[in-house]
Amino acid sequence: MNEVILDIQNLETNFVTKKGIVRAVDGVDLQVRRGETLGLVGESGCGKTVLGLSIMGLVDSPGRITGGKILFKGEDLVSKSSEEMRQLRGDRISMIFQDPTVTLNPVLRVSQQLEEVFRYHRGMKGKEARQKSLELLSLVGIPQPEERIDRYPFEFSGGMQQRVVIAIAVALNPELLLADEPTTALDVTVQAQIIKVLKDLKQQKDSAIILITHDMGVVAELCETVAVTYAGNIIEQGDLETILERPSHPYTVGLIQSIPKMEEHGKARLTAIPGTLADPTEIPPGCKFHPRCSRAEEVCKKTRPVLREVSPGHKVACHLD
Ligand SMILES: Nc1ncnc2c1ncn2[C@@H]1O[C@H](COP(=O)(O)OP(=O)(O)OP(=O)(O)O)[C@@H](O)[C@H]1O
Ligand SMILES: [Mg+2]
Repeated sequence: MNEVILDIQNLETNFVTKKGIVRAVDGVDLQVRRGETLGLVGESGCGKTVLGLSIMGLVDSPGRITGGKILFKGEDLVSKSSEEMRQLRGDRISMIFQDPTVTLNPVLRVSQQLEEVFRYHRGMKGKEARQKSLELLSLVGIPQPEERIDRYPFEFSGGMQQRVVIAIAVALNPELLLADEPTTALDVTVQAQIIKVLKDLKQQKDSAIILITHDMGVVAELCETVAVTYAGNIIEQGDLETILERPSHPYTVGLIQSIPKMEEHGKARLTAIPGTLADPTEIPPGCKFHPRCSRAEEVCKKTRPVLREVSPGHKVACHLD
């Protein structure tokens, strides 16, 4: 097995708001290995994006990492300065966001934005940086890159813009790539193309990828492992087959059941999990899922379950396993 390159231990990221302290990431433990593509799933508001931003060192005030460690190849990112993080970002760690227009600068040509990555991080000069940029645009499937590279982002379609964003993110062969809903803002046919781009990249590069998505179809297509988040924690982690076919945590069981069954021709049934996500300023005692859990017992109301290995590579945070 490849070595663990990302080892997150008991990470906490809070936002201080008028309503109280929002514990967006509330004791996350997560390991990712070199070359692994991990799907990070869980319903809206459970802290997936904030976890990604924490790894990138991009949590802004009123947010703050208040505890835990993010060990990246043994070095704790939490204790790094903002300048050190700036150098890591885009080089050894990079992130693709849902909306390509957030990442691209509207007033700079695509060529300027790509070439800058090579200039800033690798000290390359004009011609070499341009050549590298053209290669990348081909890699992510942009046709006739020579004709397009000097255009502005608005001259590209949404799908083409997202390809440019992916090109920038993978330009320097990051060891860790975070992709936060990289296809959600795109229409269905374009989504399929972007998934193909990511799939090809996986084969050509050796990056570990954390793919944040609501779409279990995307997970099934791209990921070897899955981590399930609930209210700021990882509550289950395992390989794809285990999570899809033998989920253990009652929340994961509900999540998997809520995937529409395509084979039932149009009779896709969506079983919503009863209840709503706990208010992140008022976290219930014991297991955070217990108010929604049909199997909850006395212990679940009192004691918080820890994430523990129940079989090799399969971790669950539930008293009932
Ligand atoms: N800037 C902020 N200020 C206050 N609270 C915030 C801020 N950013 C995020 N949060 C809160 O942190 C929690 C986790 O949010 P996050 O965006 O990480 O969820 P998510 O799992 O990515 O959801 P989605 O699937 O909808 O993208 C939420 O309760 C959210 O309201
Ligand atoms: Mg999000």
